[in-house]
Amino acid sequence: MTEAWPVPAGRLTLAEIREHPALGPLDRIPDRYRGPRQVTGDGWVNFAGRLERGEEIALVRSLTAVNSRVLDVGGGSGELARAVAEQIGQCTAVEPHRQLVESMHEDGSGSVSVFPGSAELLPFSSGSFDAVYCAWVLPYVSDIREATEEMIRVCDPDNPEAKIVLISGGSGNELLGLLNEICVPVAEEPYDHHGYLLLTAAQVLEEHGFSDFSLYRAESSIRFDEREPDERAATAAAVLTDFWYEQHPKAADIRAALEPALSRHFSCRPHAIGDQAAILVARPA
Ligand SMILES: C[S@@+](CC[C@H](N)C(=O)[O-])C[C@H]1O[C@@H](n2cnc3c(N)ncnc32)[C@H](O)[C@@H]1O
Repeated sequence: MTEAWPVPAGRLTLAEIREHPALGPLDRIPDRYRGPRQVTGDGWVNFAGRLERGEEIALVRSLTAVNSRVLDVGGGSGELARAVAEQIGQCTAVEPHRQLVESMHEDGSGSVSVFPGSAELLPFSSGSFDAVYCAWVLPYVSDIREATEEMIRVCDPDNPEAKIVLISGGSGNELLGLLNEICVPVAEEPYDHHGYLLLTAAQVLEEHGFSDFSLYRAESSIRFDEREPDERAATAAAVLTDFWYEQHPKAADIRAALEPALSRHFSCRPHAIGDQAAILVARPA
């Protein structure tokens, strides 16, 4: 179940971010990065098709409403970039996965400009944007510091509305709970701690003068509308395994371990699994 953590009022320092329960569990923060997860186009698209993230999208739109040159790093299938472009007329996205780049091109509205590339080496000159956001991408980058430094490089710090927005799982995120409690032991891999990702990025942001922090939360979830409980648990186990472990040698074992855990989950929250977000906003001080 979701742990409550307070919505912080006003601006925060790095020291306050470090102790904030949103980035927990604070007693499980690792001392180094576990390394990038793998994601496939199909795995992401099937998962994303069930996401309900109106609150998160509304927050990204309100944060970027005053900006004019906005970059979406790791745009996926373009849902957030389209929402931003709808509001301010355009948005630029960068995405390494060819299938996802093509799907954004096929959108046809022309308001999202998509470039192949990755967070660690952004294909733009310095100061090209006045806002950069990166949603649910830090677990996939090879180096958090490099990726954060690239976002800082392409963000113009002299723009009065300059900001970098990072979205990851918040403390109590139900999907991350399933991943860490059920899948990680079967896959024999290190704990996946999203608070650690945001903390590491916050440290790099502060070093480069983006030290005026705010932290928000949004209640996203993934929906399973299947009527029969058994079918729901089996479908959810397949969707989550494909998203997290499609090419993993133990994918079948992970899926088998997830199914009973999902049946237990759905017995108290019948049609949704929470994907609660912690959203870090950093502005130049
Ligand atoms: C969980 S999806 C999130 C997509 C999108 N940001 C959203 O919130 O809808 C993760 C995305 O990160 C992309 N990705 C993976 N490695 C990346 C990297 N090194 N740099 C930028 N994006 C990356 C994936 O291809 C995928 O589109």
